[in-house]
Order: sequence, then structure tokens, then C-alpha cells
Amino acid sequence: MSDPVEIVPSILSADFGCLNEELSRVRHAGCRRVHIDVMDGHFVPNITVGPAVVRSIRRRSGLFFTGHLMVDAPESYIKEFKEAGLDEIIIHRESCCSYSKTIKMIRKLGMKLGVALRPKTTLASVKGEIPLIDTLLIMTVEPGFGGQKFLPGTERKIIEARRLIQKCGASCAIAVDGGINLSTIPLVVKAGATRLVAGSAVFAGNVARNVNRLSRLAVRCKLRSCV
Ligand code: DX5
Ligand code: ZN
Repeated sequence: MSDPVEIVPSILSADFGCLNEELSRVRHAGCRRVHIDVMDGHFVPNITVGPAVVRSIRRRSGLFFTGHLMVDAPESYIKEFKEAGLDEIIIHRESCCSYSKTIKMIRKLGMKLGVALRPKTTLASVKGEIPLIDTLLIMTVEPGFGGQKFLPGTERKIIEARRLIQKCGASCAIAVDGGINLSTIPLVVKAGATRLVAGSAVFAGNVARNVNRLSRLAVRCKLRSCV
């Protein structure tokens, strides 16, 4: 039996003026993890938050924090993010000066580890790391901005990823990120994704109601795809 399916709110679409309240809203709605997009204006054309913000929200939240690092040379920031309170770091292979060293560094610090694939990055390029990682994050939009449209056809990559993980006898979770909402959840859950990162679909409007609808749909789709 595979992992249970869950909604992972991406704070990129939250109100940064009241992040603590937004986090407590998603926690009360039943979420266990949050997704923190870290962007440096180089690896992607947008800038977001760094360790100082993570440190502040960590003081008031017990949620599991995943940092999705969309920065050049992420190895330079890993220790600081660990100290600030991230539980998991997801890196993009293309952004690392030394990919295997970065992976070792994250592991040595006792953190969970994920690898993200841009839409054009192939699964074959991360095949060797599948047994070592906790999360394989499949980008379903070009990284950089919230509120974009899901790229049609990406579900095929999720199916391939699921097969590859099974073939390797590995147990990493498949996460998807970008354009995840009530219309795209059936597609990605059927394909095999279990961690559904959602920004605008969670934070636009009533958070509790949004999480509730998205989660209920995801669970229904998962049950259907298991029979
Ligand atoms: C985009 C980010 C996403 C973003 C998703 O580069 O990695 O995490 O917040 O936003 P939505 O769910 O609005 O597409
Ligand atoms: Zn992200």
C-alpha cells in the first residue's frame, strides 16, 4: 500500500503580513506539512524568503517544514536553513555546484532530503539518487511563480516516476508542485502523486474550506485509483 495522499500548502501564496496566522489556519485545517519556496532571483526570476523568516515562523509552529530551494549553489545555505528550523530540503540538481556533496551534507545534518525536477529535466538524470531520497518533487509548472497553469502531459512523468521507484525498490514519496487544484488533483493522484503542493488553491479565499475540499477530493481519487 502506498503513502496516504496529503495537501501540502505552499506559503508562496499566503499573506506574508500574517504568516503565523496562515500557518495556524492550515494546521487547524488538518495539514501536517508546509512547503516554503526559497528563490534567489538567479535560479528563478523571483525572490522570496531566507533563513530569517524560517527561524521566525519555526518559533511558533510545530508543522513539518520543507524548503524548496530554487537558488544557485544551495550548498551554501543548507546549514543555516537547518539551524533556522527546516525539516526537509528539496534541491534542484542543476543548481548545485556539487550535487553529491550537497546530498551528503543534507543527510549528515539529519534532515529529510528531496530532489526536484523542472518540467524539462528527465527522470533518468536522478535515477541514481532515487534510493537515497525521501521526496521526488515533480514540477508541474516552470518554477518561479505561484498561480500558473498545470502543464498538460506532466502526469506521464509521474507515472514513469512511480514505476521507477517501484523498480528500484525505493520508498520515496512523489510530490507535485504547480497548478494543483480541484481540476488537476484527479489527474496527479491517479498517476501516483501523494504529496500535493498547492499555493493559490489553498490560500485564495477561505483556507479551511479550501484545504477541506482539496483533501476530500484527493482522498476520494486515491481510493478510486487503488481499487
Ligand atoms: C512555484 C513554486 C510553487 C508555488 C505553487 O515555483 O515552487 O510551490 O507556490 O503555486 P500554485 O499552487 O499557485 O501553482
Ligand atoms: Zn515549490
